[in-house]
Amino acid sequence: MRLNLRELQDDDEREALAAHSEFPDWEFLLLHTPEITWHDYVLRCRDHRLGINLPKGRVPATFFIAEVDGEIIGRASIRHELNTFLTNYGGHIGYGVRPQFRRRGCATEILRQSLDYIRGLGVDDVLMTCFDENIGSAAVIEAAGGQLENKVDFEGKPLRRYWIRKQ
Ligand SMILES: CC(C)(COP(=O)(O)OP(=O)(O)OC[C@H]1O[C@@H](n2cnc3c(N)ncnc32)[C@H](O)[C@@H]1OP(=O)(O)O)[C@@H](O)C(=O)NCCC(=O)NCCS
Repeated sequence: MRLNLRELQDDDEREALAAHSEFPDWEFLLLHTPEITWHDYVLRCRDHRLGINLPKGRVPATFFIAEVDGEIIGRASIRHELNTFLTNYGGHIGYGVRPQFRRRGCATEILRQSLDYIRGLGVDDVLMTCFDENIGSAAVIEAAGGQLENKVDFEGKPLRRYWIRKQ
């Protein structure tokens, strides 16, 4: 599969917003609100990658769109460091795949490339989390070498915490 991770661009607006609307219980476009113009949203994502104008409690993070054959199929959010919330619940990397592209190995490839990226930033041991009930995400994390550390309660549901350690 020729899957490419890249930053959001100005001409992604229509497709990225369509993808965003396909996830009722999960935030595809992080911190996106209807009030912000698309151009400003793209700039904000770039700022956050550089650690500029971060909202309180946020760490520098890279937002990548995943593209296959020129089509947006998913996204990754790669946190460059952990704070208390991320250590306990959020982990280093979050990802999602649009419903019509699932079960084709896209999340597996997004995670593989995201691990390459974060290791390039000097993070060797990568924390990943998912809800206990998210069988798909747990399978993707375990296939990437994730070792379950524990389960904690988050918003009333068990959340799995895994480490993917550099070999
Ligand atoms: C979880 C998610 C990212 C998986 O994406 P995906 O592209 O379908 O995953 P992959 O195709 O790489 O899956 C690889 C393997 O994981 C397992 N898997 C994936 N989804 C599964 C599911 N719904 N049920 C059971 N196993 C699943 C399978 O073993 C699969 O291999 P197979 O299709 O050959 O059987 C996707 O369902 C999603 O975006 N969900 C909503 C957002 C989300 O939960 N993100 C993760 C937050 S922690």
